[in-house]
Amino acid sequence: MKSFEAFIEQQLAERKLGSSYRTLKLENSLVDFCSNDYLGFARSLELKNNIDDELNNLHLILNGSTGSRLLSGNLQYTEELESEIACFHNTPAGLVFNSGYDANVGLFSCIARRGDTIITDELIHASIIDGARLSHANRYTFKHNDLESLEIKLKQAKGNCYVAIESVYSMDGDNPPLLDILHLAEKYNAALIVDEAHAIGLHKKGLINELGVEDRIFARVITFGKALGCHGAIVLGSNSLRNYLINFARSFIYTTAASVHQIASIKMAYRMLQYSDEIIEALKNNIELFKNGLTQPSSLLKSNSAIQCLLLNDNGRAREAAVYLQAKGLDVRAILSPTVPAGTERLRICLHAYNTIDEINLLTKNINELINA
Ligand SMILES: Cc1ncc(COP(=O)(O)O)c(C=O)c1O
Repeated sequence: MKSFEAFIEQQLAERKLGSSYRTLKLENSLVDFCSNDYLGFARSLELKNNIDDELNNLHLILNGSTGSRLLSGNLQYTEELESEIACFHNTPAGLVFNSGYDANVGLFSCIARRGDTIITDELIHASIIDGARLSHANRYTFKHNDLESLEIKLKQAKGNCYVAIESVYSMDGDNPPLLDILHLAEKYNAALIVDEAHAIGLHKKGLINELGVEDRIFARVITFGKALGCHGAIVLGSNSLRNYLINFARSFIYTTAASVHQIASIKMAYRMLQYSDEIIEALKNNIELFKNGLTQPSSLLKSNSAIQCLLLNDNGRAREAAVYLQAKGLDVRAILSPTVPAGTERLRICLHAYNTIDEINLLTKNINELINA
């Protein structure tokens, strides 16, 4: 065997040994307790029809965008949507990226330079870690949601300093002490960047809008692939930040722009979000129903969001628990290391507005049996 083939085989064998070998699964007919489609937009026939109507009314025959935004791929339609979304979130400007991963990699890789500092919560999303790595800036992590640990790192920071957090953590579902972190960042003249990927929906416009601190946040990343049910992301901030990203964010510059279909989907999803108070209420009720149905709620990580996690602390145990629940008709997935730190492997249960009471009762009944077995 050629040495590079042997290398691949050996790496895969190690993954299998550690029960962390990843495989792709096809769609199934189990009850959805794992997708990020918190409000049901991705499966909404109404949204699909609205997108179809919007595209028909546009009379624009353009299947692909034909190029990068800086060449042939920019549309007035996209720029109008960016302004509309920025306005919705009470921010001066926004720039659409093809995905949340692209948005974070683009933003973090260019905003800090050699000699600057990026400080991230230890549980920050991989896309921010990757972007920060590409920046060549000094990188520090602070203990999850820990102000003392953050302050120690702020004291060590050199150059321009950026602090990155999520407003709802993707793998734990909890919120940071956002106002305290903001206050601390301001004390050390650091810019705060907040990834709102999992806050949009449950917190309608996101936590920053809910707290009314929009004008104190340097940049926000909003992704469209979760509660908004489509795909893509926007970086919100000042007009100068938008211009800077157009000039320096390589994941924005060197890629084909999103298609009209993608932009129309985002536009219609935002329209729908504006009138979704009842759906959001249904999601909140389902989260409560789930938590109240557990005989040992303390076995969950502390979270008020749609993401609820049952720690099993081992890849094998987490995988077995997921298989057990799947055999009962419930699509619950295990999150294994290295996606989460070793020893914190878990079931990540996502609640949705469209889960029925019977489905949630079936889930809690089976989790209770699992815990007490
Ligand atoms: C916190 C966070 N940021 C960014 C992303 C990336 O977003 P996208 O899926 O649109 O690439 C994700 C998705 O996994 C996420 O959970």
